[in-house]
Amino acid sequence: MNVLVVGNGGREHALSWKIAQSSRVDRVFVAPGNAGTEIDAENVAIPATDFGELIKFAKQNEILLTVVGPEIPLAEGITDVFAAEGLRVFGPSKAAAQLEGSKVFCKNLLRHADIPTADYRVFDDADSARHHIEERYPSDVEDVPVVVKADGLAAGKGVIVCSRREEVLLAIERIARDREFGAAGSRLVIEERLDGQEASVLAFTDGRSIVTLPPAQDHKPAYDGDTGPNTGGMGAYCPTPLVSPATLREVEEHVLVSTVHALKRSRNPFRGVLYAGLMLTNQGPKVLEFNVRFGDPECQPLLMRLKSDVMDLLEGTVDGKLDEITLPEWDERPAVCVVMASEGYPGSYEKGRVIRGLSEAGELKDVKVFHAGTASSEGDVVTNGGRVLGVTALGDSVSAAKLRAYSGVKKIRWKGAWCRKDISDKALTVINDS
Ligand code: AMP
Ligand code: GLY
Repeated sequence: MNVLVVGNGGREHALSWKIAQSSRVDRVFVAPGNAGTEIDAENVAIPATDFGELIKFAKQNEILLTVVGPEIPLAEGITDVFAAEGLRVFGPSKAAAQLEGSKVFCKNLLRHADIPTADYRVFDDADSARHHIEERYPSDVEDVPVVVKADGLAAGKGVIVCSRREEVLLAIERIARDREFGAAGSRLVIEERLDGQEASVLAFTDGRSIVTLPPAQDHKPAYDGDTGPNTGGMGAYCPTPLVSPATLREVEEHVLVSTVHALKRSRNPFRGVLYAGLMLTNQGPKVLEFNVRFGDPECQPLLMRLKSDVMDLLEGTVDGKLDEITLPEWDERPAVCVVMASEGYPGSYEKGRVIRGLSEAGELKDVKVFHAGTASSEGDVVTNGGRVLGVTALGDSVSAAKLRAYSGVKKIRWKGAWCRKDISDKALTVINDS
């Protein structure tokens, strides 16, 4: 069969690479794709939100499954539009995608379903939010450990973690008055700041059954030691020892299954990948956020370790038959993905810089270079985004996988290329502690 993957990041490269390995699949198309998906699949020059053209392409090319990578087309209802045309599509409906598209929707669902999360309040404007802070924290209190969040999608940037009063008041102004994140800031969530390690637990669900994947850890801050501004994710590894088997079971039962049931009860059944962003606190795991799709870059190390056919999971989910599939088989070895970024990211950056050394890196054993912001230009691969590549490697231990991923990174160069040097180090602290 032919499969269409929608999106152009590292996640979509990993998905199309893995889907292309299935014996069930003839051709894999990626819309719009990048210079990496052009090699492992076939690119189609249609933007991820041009539903009309995507539907036309799917019908003309006998696409039997469309897999949606990013959140924006999901939040805009791509699944509903495809389904109305009788096309098979992997990803939640517009209604269920609100779990990521609206923090207010997400927090209210968590509260009603009694799922552990930070205490929160919702505000419609800057004045009422400000008033709440002034009432709750007398003016001589400087420490105000709260997180201010824009309700809507803001590419991971509409969340401001604060410690001091002036930071909180400024965050409220930026989101709700200056509308720095546009319409996403028309409502605000202010919540208690949680402390602990973060982890990502993802599961496939068809709305009734779930298949939980091994836990992963992302690295959102730009620089080493988790400093600097937040990014889309500078690297990830899997599995993370920070989530013990007992904690994983707890997350599966009290977070994932509870959420799937809550959505089913509210007549918005969820089909797709449900991603729980967790804080592992002293009181146990608490939900920071849900995403309604694979994480990027978590998808890259996860799929690198998947030994069985990813089409079993994708088709089982779409057809509501996840309870009938054989459980996925994983490579015992951990995988580490290091993101290489453009100079200036997550701020502004230039595009079009020529990348060298890709084939040398790709020749290393157990290394796969997933492309994100890349494009082809006159026979060269050039930079075309902030996060450019995700160099991913398997190794016998987390540190061996890390070493191998960085030996891939060392082979690749372009003007201004940089990466974090400490991806997966938090796993080593756990291993050393035990
Ligand atoms: P979100 O998009 O809601 O996951 O937030 C992005 C990032 O902000 C998370 O990955 C955390 O690092 C941080 N964050 C969000 N909510 C909280 C919270 N309640 N306490 C501490 N950090 C948080
Ligand atoms: N890695 C975080 C995300 O995909 O949102």
